[in-house]
Amino acid sequence: MIYSYIYSSKTNKAFTLEELLVLQKEAATKNKEHDVTGYLTFKNDIFFQYIEGPEKEIKQLIKNIENDHRHGISNSFILPVREERVFGGWSMRYIDFNSLVEIGFHELLETVFFTIDNQLFSNQEVAKKINRMLLKIADNIND
Ligand SMILES: Cc1cc2nc3c(=O)[nH]c(=O)nc-3n(C[C@H](O)[C@H](O)[C@H](O)COP(=O)(O)O)c2cc1C
Repeated sequence: MIYSYIYSSKTNKAFTLEELLVLQKEAATKNKEHDVTGYLTFKNDIFFQYIEGPEKEIKQLIKNIENDHRHGISNSFILPVREERVFGGWSMRYIDFNSLVEIGFHELLETVFFTIDNQLFSNQEVAKKINRMLLKIADNIND
């Protein structure tokens, strides 16, 4: 069974592209050791990240990420367990935000992240929307 988690966060310090790529590279190296996959994207001072993997590893990584003082979580969602990974080949892929906008990523931001708190959708509907978006990203962003 694959556990997965998606969140948006706001940085507590300014990140240069270089620093971002260092963060991504370190994350990818650690994720490879822990059998974790996913992607990370960044726009202005906001991170969006999706992680998936075995229960123990994902629970630990969520704790690490939530305690990381370089950012503060704004919205997060634990997805229902799944049979297979969505991003099997990506230890932690950095995706340029513009390429996500091209495939309609703003739809995820607007309809999902901004509506989790006020409960416009049930958790099941939110999970469905997020999963639809993840599959779109997996299908449209080339390796
Ligand atoms: C936006 C963001 C994304 C991160 N993504 C990952 C990740 O995918 N994998 C990971 O191991 N650490 C990631 N980190 C770092 C963790 O918060 C934490 O520093 C790290 O897991 C600690 O690992 P260590 O205990 O082995 O030093 C991320 C940090 C930030 C700010």
